[in-house]
Amino acid sequence: MMARISSCILLLSFFAAMTECQRISTAKIGDNRYFISWQNPYAPRLNFHLAYEYCRTIAMELISLESAEEAQQLADYLRPGASAADFWTSGNTLGTSTWLWMSNGSPFNGTFNYWPNGVEPSRSTDANCLLVTDQTQTWRAENCAQNNHFICEQTRCYFYNFNPFAALSTSPQGNGAR
Ligand SMILES: *[C@@H]1O[C@H](CO)[C@@H](O)[C@H](O)[C@H]1NC(C)=O
Repeated sequence: MMARISSCILLLSFFAAMTECQRISTAKIGDNRYFISWQNPYAPRLNFHLAYEYCRTIAMELISLESAEEAQQLADYLRPGASAADFWTSGNTLGTSTWLWMSNGSPFNGTFNYWPNGVEPSRSTDANCLLVTDQTQTWRAENCAQNNHFICEQTRCYFYNFNPFAALSTSPQGNGAR
């Protein structure tokens, strides 16, 4: 009986904890909004797959660098930071012969890249995910299972209204019934 009560309390406190809100910080860079994991106290380092899922839970996508302008704006924003960190992007070659941005399925933009000396790394079976090394912004093919920081990008907009709906007034307030 005692055991059942205490496990019940445990379960209840678990759900209570789940409904507690966590405030996340995002950064507006150029026209885009990003979640930068190391700027947030709740985000641990994650492997590529869990980073991808984490971004989905906050209604964002793991970052894709589709234009040189976007990559440069982000690099300019991150460069002055003292707390630089390597970060996962959605770029990968998992199960394909070319690099793709997983968040939108696009192949890499042929007009620019940040591979060392502009040279795409040769195929490897254990380095299939694209890590940006924050100090230099250089791209590196890494083992997807490695835990790293990550950046999510907003690709669509939700407006959450946390205010209760205004109760429909049933008492006449001067205008009579409508
Ligand atoms: C590819 O990159 C160039 C240079 O940044 C950019 O102008 C162009 O829009 C990009 N293409 C796509 C499909 O995003």
